[in-house]
Amino acid sequence: MCGIVGYTGKKQATPILLDGLGRLEYRGYDSSGVAVASGDEIQIVKAKGRLFELEKLTEGVNPAGTTGIGHTRWATHGGPSDENAHPHFSRDKSFAVVHNGIIENYLELRAFLSERGFTFRSETDTELISLLLEYYYGGDMLDTIIKVRNKIKGSYALGILHAGDGDTFYALRKDSPLVLGVGDDENFIASDIPAVLPYTRKFIIPDEKEIAVLTPNGITVFNTNKEKIEKTPIVSDLSAADAEKDGYPHFMLKEIFEQPGAVKKTVHDRITPDGIRLDRIKLNGKDFRKICVAACGSAYHAGVVGKYFIEKFARIEVETDLASEFRYRNPILGSDCLTVIISQSGETADSLAALREAKRHGSRVLAIVNVVDSSIAREADDVLYTRAGPEIAVATTKGYTTQVATLCLLGLKFAHDCGTISHDEYLSLTRELKAVPDLLGKYIDEVNGKAQYLAGKYYPASDAYFIGRGYDWAAALEGALKLKEISYIHAEAYAAGELKHGTISLIEKNSLVIGIAAEPELREKTLSNIKEVRSRGAAVIGVTDAPQTIAAECDDILELPETNSAFSPLFTAAALQLFAYYVAAARGGDIDKPRNLAKSVTVE
Ligand code: F6R
Repeated sequence: MCGIVGYTGKKQATPILLDGLGRLEYRGYDSSGVAVASGDEIQIVKAKGRLFELEKLTEGVNPAGTTGIGHTRWATHGGPSDENAHPHFSRDKSFAVVHNGIIENYLELRAFLSERGFTFRSETDTELISLLLEYYYGGDMLDTIIKVRNKIKGSYALGILHAGDGDTFYALRKDSPLVLGVGDDENFIASDIPAVLPYTRKFIIPDEKEIAVLTPNGITVFNTNKEKIEKTPIVSDLSAADAEKDGYPHFMLKEIFEQPGAVKKTVHDRITPDGIRLDRIKLNGKDFRKICVAACGSAYHAGVVGKYFIEKFARIEVETDLASEFRYRNPILGSDCLTVIISQSGETADSLAALREAKRHGSRVLAIVNVVDSSIAREADDVLYTRAGPEIAVATTKGYTTQVATLCLLGLKFAHDCGTISHDEYLSLTRELKAVPDLLGKYIDEVNGKAQYLAGKYYPASDAYFIGRGYDWAAALEGALKLKEISYIHAEAYAAGELKHGTISLIEKNSLVIGIAAEPELREKTLSNIKEVRSRGAAVIGVTDAPQTIAAECDDILELPETNSAFSPLFTAAALQLFAYYVAAARGGDIDKPRNLAKSVTVE
C-alpha cells in the first residue's frame, strides 16, 4: 500500500525523502513523487514506475529545499500514471498533499468541487483533498485542516505542505498508519518506523484525527477539540541494520533465516520454569466458551494452526474466519467469547474492522501483532506482540511463524487454565516449545540445500497442489500461498481427504503435488491420498519426518525433523518457504515485491 515520508530540518529534503521512500518500497507501489517547499513556492516531481524513475528526475537534490513530503503510490482510484502519482497540487499550487487510504465519499466531494468550478488533473481521491484545502483556506491552517477533516469520509494518513509556511508542514491520520519521527533540529513523518530509522529512533504515534504541526524545532499535536496535547515519544528498539539485507540477495531469504531468532524472542522469556507468563495479560481460558480467530492471508493460516492446537490441548471451541468475511457476517459473540485478531502489520483494514465488530458484539479482543503501537494493537483489549522485528519482504515468513508460536503459547496456557492437560504434560510441552528455536535453526541450515535442489527440478511446473490433514492441512494452506504469491505458479491447498470430491479431476501426468505427512495419526490416510494422485501421473514431493513410511510413493522427500507434531507446522513452513523462494528465484520473479501485492493492506 502507499508509503508516506515527510521531512523538515536543516538538510536538503529530497535525498532524505528518496531514502525514506526506498525503505517503504516493500509496501508495494507503482509510482512515486516528492513535493518540496522553497520560499513561497512548492515544487513537485513525480513519475510512474519504480523509484529509480523518480531518482532520474530529481538528480539528487532537485527540487531544492529543506521541507518536503514524499510518496509511493499503490493504485486504487485511477491506474498508475504520472498524473495519478502523489503529491497532488491544489488548483493554485498553494497546497501539496500525499495520502494513504481511501476517501469513501469521493463522488460526492467531486460533485461538490465541480459545482464550485474546480476541475481535476487526476483520477485520484487525493487531489480532492488538495482542492478542499484551497477551497476552505481562510488564513489559518489548523481551521482549514479541521474543515477538510470534517468533510472527508474514509481512511487517510495525510502529509500536507502549504506554500509560504516556511519550514512547517502538517500531518494527520484516521484508520491508516502514520508515525511522527522526533529528531534533533529535524522532524519526520512516515508510514512506518523503519522508513526513517537511520535518522531517529524516537517516535510519536498520533491518535485518530489528531493534527500534527511539524517544524525543525518541534512537533505540536492538536486533538479533535483543537487543544494542544502532550505526547511522550516511544523509543524504538529497532536499528537501521534491522531493515537492511545484510548480504542476502533478498529480504525474504534473510527473514527465513531470521526465524529461529525471531521465534526465540517470541517464546523464550514467556516460558518460565513454572510455566507460561503472557506479559501482563490476565486472560484465563476458563472464562471463554468459544474463541473466534479473524485474520487475513498468512495470518489467517496461522489462525488455522492455532485452531487445531487450542482445540487439541485446551478443548475450547475455536472458529476461524477470514477477517473480510467476519466483519460482515454478524458473528454470534458475547462476553464469554474471546476474539483473537492476528496481524503482522497491525494495520490491515479488514482485520481492524473485524476487531471493531467483535467489540461491538461485546467480545473481549486479544491482538497478536508484530508492529508495536499499530492500530490493531492500540484498539485491542489485550496485545501479545510477536517480536519478529521488521518484516520487509512482502511475503511473510517470520511474521507467520512467530504468530504460530504465539498461538502455541496461548493454547498451552489455556490448557493449563482449563486443566485439560496434566501439569507434567504442560511442563513438558512448554519445554519442547522452548527448544523449537534452536531445532528450527539447525533445520533451516540443513534443509536449505534440498529445498534449492527440488526447486531446480520442479520450477517449470504450472500448477501445484498442497495436500495434508490436520496440522498438515493448515501448513499446506501457507505453503501454497507462499509458492503462488512469489513464483506466480498456480498453487492451491486441499485437505487431503477432500481431493476425491472434485479436485482430483485436475490431476494429470506431471501435476505437482506436495503431500505433507507429519501427523503420525493421520499419516496412513494422507499416504492413501498420495497414492491416488500418483497413480494418476502426479509428481509427488513428500514432506515428512518419517520418510521410510511414504518414500516409496513419492518422487522426492523434503524431510522434517523429528518433533512433537503439534509444533511441526513451524518446520513445514520453513521448508516450504525455502522451496517457494528458490522456485521464484529460478523463474526470475521480483521476490521481495511480487506484482500487484502490498505489504500492509490498509484498504478494504
Ligand atoms: C502473505 C502475506 C499476506 C498477509 C496478509 C495479512 O505472504 O503476507 O497474506 O499475511 O495480508 O497481513 P497482516 O498480517 O499484516 O494483517
